Amino acid sequence: MIRERAYPVEAWHVRETRLDVDVLAQAESVFALGNGHIGMRGNLDEGEPHGLPGTYLNSFYELRPLPYAEAGYGFPESGQTVVNVTNGKPIRLLVDDEPFDVRYGELEAHTRILDLRAGTLDRVVQWRSPAGRAVKVRSTRLVSFTQRSIAAIRYEVEAVDEPLRLIVQSELVANEELPGQSRDPRVAAVLERPLQIEERLTDKDRAQLIHRTKRSGLRVGAAMAHEINGPPRTNINTEAHDDWARTTIACVLKPGEKLVVVKLLAYGWSSRRSLPAIRDQVSAALAAAEFSGWDGLVREQREYLDTFWDAADVRVEGDSEVQQAVRFGLFHVLQAGARAELRPIAAKGLTGPGYDGHVFWDTEMFALPVLTYTQPVAVAHALRWRHATLEMARDRAKQLGLRGAAFPWRTIRGQECSGYWPAGTAGFHVNAGIADAVRRYVQATGDVDFEREIGLELLVETARLWHSLGHHDRHGKFHIDGVTGPDEYTAVKNDNVYTNLMAQRNMLVAADCVTRHSERAWRLGVDDEETAAWRDAAANMHIPYDEELGVHPQVEGFTRYQEWDFDNTPPEDYPLLLNYPYFDLYRRQVVKQSDLVLAMHWCGDAFTDEQKLRNFDYYERRTVRDSSLSACTQSVVAAEVGYLELAHDYLGEAALMDLHDIHNNTREGLHIAALAGAWLGLVAGFGGMRDHEDHLTFAPRLPARISRLEFALMWHGKRLRVDVRQHEAIYSLRDGEVDASMDLDHHGERVTVTCEKEVRMPIPRLEPHRRQPRQPAGRAPARRPAPDTRHR
Ligand code: BGC
Repeated sequence: MIRERAYPVEAWHVRETRLDVDVLAQAESVFALGNGHIGMRGNLDEGEPHGLPGTYLNSFYELRPLPYAEAGYGFPESGQTVVNVTNGKPIRLLVDDEPFDVRYGELEAHTRILDLRAGTLDRVVQWRSPAGRAVKVRSTRLVSFTQRSIAAIRYEVEAVDEPLRLIVQSELVANEELPGQSRDPRVAAVLERPLQIEERLTDKDRAQLIHRTKRSGLRVGAAMAHEINGPPRTNINTEAHDDWARTTIACVLKPGEKLVVVKLLAYGWSSRRSLPAIRDQVSAALAAAEFSGWDGLVREQREYLDTFWDAADVRVEGDSEVQQAVRFGLFHVLQAGARAELRPIAAKGLTGPGYDGHVFWDTEMFALPVLTYTQPVAVAHALRWRHATLEMARDRAKQLGLRGAAFPWRTIRGQECSGYWPAGTAGFHVNAGIADAVRRYVQATGDVDFEREIGLELLVETARLWHSLGHHDRHGKFHIDGVTGPDEYTAVKNDNVYTNLMAQRNMLVAADCVTRHSERAWRLGVDDEETAAWRDAAANMHIPYDEELGVHPQVEGFTRYQEWDFDNTPPEDYPLLLNYPYFDLYRRQVVKQSDLVLAMHWCGDAFTDEQKLRNFDYYERRTVRDSSLSACTQSVVAAEVGYLELAHDYLGEAALMDLHDIHNNTREGLHIAALAGAWLGLVAGFGGMRDHEDHLTFAPRLPARISRLEFALMWHGKRLRVDVRQHEAIYSLRDGEVDASMDLDHHGERVTVTCEKEVRMPIPRLEPHRRQPRQPAGRAPARRPAPDTRHR
């Protein structure tokens, strides 16, 4: 685990000042760079030592068989695994006769800084070789937001106190050997040598390798070019072989003299394009990057991020650790999706091979709500990707005997890849999540073209799925039986409240959308009878309720299941899925992650305040948070029901998930949903923002240790700024026409904000609760430390 305070608390940087070789893999995830198209783990420039080398291209995968001991009808036959593609990061260095390797000699100084405003990873190292020769290396790496096929490294070597003979070897490496697999089933299957060479090219200081995967038949091109500035006699030559290409630079540096190498990298891949087309695509991308040059790339990167932060930044006073973490989280959510462009946003983004690089419902229910209000264009792309996979989802529905579309529980390309159907196929709620992301995006942007071209069909096909999956009982009540909700410790059950409420909204929103785009809907075969059937199912949706306890069972009958013996479950048994059979988990009241509580967040209008409080208390005692997706939701709802300090504790857990490696698996990649959850905990939690009505509603209220919270939301091209203090909230509007205005609710009161005048609203006093909710033994979140006064 990353040791506590591995990274000092700073407003805009994540800094490492000591290299801990034992936890390299965690740092490689934290320091990963990406743009949604290319992802590069924060491996050291010289390639070794490494925890887990990783370079990924969004949706570049290899197929692998999914063997079953006992196969059944409809089980997916083949899985998809993200491929570690050609690595362009390595720049090795030979200092006199010694390879620069931090495990040998003496590392006199080491700093790495992830700069959240510059979008770069900087490294400064001073190293003394075993023979006593000292060099200083400074490198800066970026994956460009503005040129999506491009990454670049500026590598500078300086001789410290005596002349040095230096050899720099800058490489492209395919089919790297990867460390072995862990016993955790969530970890990616390691694919051996997935890439086969098709072409290699070299020129003076440049090289290109083109490979193809064996089974999925995808072709990838990687190219490098160098700009080299060294002493007058500097030798350069390049060679290429099947799995590697290398530019070698040789020179002698006097003390104080520098060798500067700028390495530009271009990537391209395709399932369809020919070899010459890929070759040209990669060369062209490289030419564009050369045209911009290093300084141009750095400048564009900064400008792109300045624009992003201007709209998206969240300021937190009183908890500088959360301040840093929410920016870190936003940065990585942006990196996961910024330039995905018709490709998905995976659960780990492009930061590691965890979960095989698959995309789950995490995208629509955690990442997209954040991007909708901060970088909406990325949401349109992610949903267009879902739309592009509709044919596969229709086929899957057909195979399951259903109508409409059944989107996969986990996938890269669009086909279902889950080999465990109770937590895969049965997790139908992913479909309602997609529909809700469509609704939210259209509502927040007013993008009618998107709604007509893309949104409508997604809504219609998911509504059809629900209608065929559920049924009316003899009293007319509509039930959705045999499904798995978000809590994966309760599987294949009837009437999951979250699923039913989300499906209900899905069908209603689809029916409304059909009336707005009747012509197109007609072409999709929708008629009045069908929309009437959706409305009828929605109106009669069964929502189980336990009258005796006064709480909602998360699925029918849940509250009468046997309780889990938390007092006799030792801490090392968590996560329970690795130590107990699912059979046992499924028949008891033990909750992996927010489920009913999640329903209260996203479908809050279906519960009274009193029910929310009672439900929260009830599930709090049974939720173990074995999933990183849980804490942020608990934070949001704890804040709503008035447990502000507990909400703050949960916010800390979500926000620090990777900076503190709370789930002890950051090495496999970052938890994008939890990182998005930091924003959700602040904006939906302490800002009380909800978007299930046709306007935004707020109920801001801060915990004692946060003195001020400021955030902005994009709404129809305007920016709403919300500035929350302990006793008042200030709403202001930017970027609209002078007479632009926006209606919102503040603690139930309608407010109109205009560009001309901010509105100040008092925050109603909260009566403190007499009792605090309890968590299962040993599962309470860590308390947030006392407030600090460092304002940033
Ligand atoms: C959670 C799922 C989630 C997946 C990927 C699992 O542990 O239970 O809800 O989609 O991780 O993050």
